[in-house]
Amino acid sequence: MSATILAPSRADEGRGPAYATDVILTGDRPTGSLHLGHYAGSLRSRLALQGQCAQTLLIADLQALTDSSGRAADVARHVMDVALDYLAIGIDPAQTTIAVQSRLSALAELTVLFLNLVTVSRLERNPTVKAEVELRGFERDIPAGFLCYPVSQAADISGFRATLVPVGEDQLPMIEQTNEIVRRVNRLAGAPVVPECRALLSSTPRLPGVDGRKASKSLGNAIPLAASADDIRRLVRAMYTDAGHVRASDPGRVEGNVVFAYLDAFDQDLTTVGELKARYRHGGLGDMALKRRLEDVLEGLVAPIRARRAELARDRAYVMDVLRAGYERANAITEGVLRDVRRAFALDA
Ligand code: TRP
Repeated sequence: MSATILAPSRADEGRGPAYATDVILTGDRPTGSLHLGHYAGSLRSRLALQGQCAQTLLIADLQALTDSSGRAADVARHVMDVALDYLAIGIDPAQTTIAVQSRLSALAELTVLFLNLVTVSRLERNPTVKAEVELRGFERDIPAGFLCYPVSQAADISGFRATLVPVGEDQLPMIEQTNEIVRRVNRLAGAPVVPECRALLSSTPRLPGVDGRKASKSLGNAIPLAASADDIRRLVRAMYTDAGHVRASDPGRVEGNVVFAYLDAFDQDLTTVGELKARYRHGGLGDMALKRRLEDVLEGLVAPIRARRAELARDRAYVMDVLRAGYERANAITEGVLRDVRRAFALDA
């Protein structure tokens, strides 16, 4: 079992199980409230793993600043949103550490040391960074912090000696780059001071936005985790189905149909979903009836999250206590790793 922990994470190895000895670290940029895409892709597996292995959730505010330094006040405000979302879905701070990245100065120092172990051209070749640079339209004006965020993410992961990282497919290059850095650190130290990690990929394919495009807060096409019943209705009604499915009696397409993508992700009654698909394909099932089913399923999922979130939002002192306790635990771990890594660089020798 322990051999698996150190296995390099290639995409095809990422779907393996988690072991009790695994240390899980994952994070979210506080750029807004989390949405159902986050839930299907990653939050759900964090809930399932809670209590089975050591787990830390990092609210990655420093990483958010790498492309949003002009919106620093928003980032600071969203730290609370993400913490509320975690707690509202059932993350239990007694079992899972929740920590704010910027409070952990060891992570910043690890980043500075790790920067000596990567080249600029390697960072420029990172496919995730490349895609994001294009998406954000940086062209030649890439903030240096943004180009280097994979190094900061490597510090996040190895700063907790994490072995398992639940992420989406798009983050696989980050895991690869982390392991390159980890191997260099260990070579430098002459001992395995930090472990290699592997990705834990969700079995749910990436959930589209209601318009079929990539779900994104700025496009307004994502369904927030704590959406109101009205928002759920409005967003489900706006979902793209099959443009060729005009009358209920027409045969319709299930593939690429956003309503079915959400039913596949959230409807636990697989038999009914199978029947709905068959009826839709054959003709005889209208979009409205299908959407009503999805509304019910989503309301069933979201209503308790919404209620719990509202309750927690009234008790900020409690949330601050959770973050303070998370900081204490996370700080002790990351400071320990930093000590070892500083020694590898012959500092404090
Ligand atoms: N890059 C992740 C995102 O885009 C956030 C993140 C920061 C992260 N540090 C991490 C994910 C460490 C996994 C592990 O939301």
